[in-house]
Amino acid sequence: MKIFLDTADLAEIRRASDAGLIDGVTTNPSLLAKAGNDRAPAELFREICETVDGPVSAEVVAVDSDGMIAEGRKLAAIHEHIVVKLPLTEAGLVACRTLTAEEIQTNVTLCFSTAQALLAAKAGATWVSPFVGRLDDIGHDGLEIVAEIRQVYDNYGFETEILAASLRHPRHVQEAMLVGADVATLPPSVLYPLLHHPLTDRGLDQFLKDWKAAGHAL
Ligand code: G3P
Repeated sequence: MKIFLDTADLAEIRRASDAGLIDGVTTNPSLLAKAGNDRAPAELFREICETVDGPVSAEVVAVDSDGMIAEGRKLAAIHEHIVVKLPLTEAGLVACRTLTAEEIQTNVTLCFSTAQALLAAKAGATWVSPFVGRLDDIGHDGLEIVAEIRQVYDNYGFETEILAASLRHPRHVQEAMLVGADVATLPPSVLYPLLHHPLTDRGLDQFLKDWKAAGHAL
């Protein structure tokens, strides 16, 4: 399973990319606003693309299909890593078909049901993003939708990849792997805790103590 970083914060992207922890980046308008960057979005997207060796999702903000297509073409022209992120609406799927026909990669986002995911795949989406945490928030089981989408895509041979999004804690990530998501996109606050285990810390501490007590040197 690939891991993308879900942020528009360049310092965080640099850190994770330098450590070899991520395969791509996803952003959305809220994340861009949160990054509070004073440079133009196109500039920021270019810099993110130059920092990470993988796909970078950049979202349209138009709500009609012609507007989405125009914005999508502009975004795709910024850098070859750009993936145009489109909302899972009728207009978004129309835009998805057109951009796919132009060989522009797409990420259909704000997916909350298996039926929506089927429609995104039929529109030719490169990725579909089910929002796990937001489904959990309203009392549904977000991971169950991811598992269902996996089954449907396998049943019908769709090549659209499942990009599990809105993952809020390491357990979500572990379950996304188990149900066969192709990608998990994580904020930094979920990525780094994946590295940690108390037994790793305790074990390392003991190794270093024993080594010191033995008085050896490498
Ligand atoms: O990739 C989607 C993600 O940014 C949404 O996460 O935690 O706001 O539901 P959250």
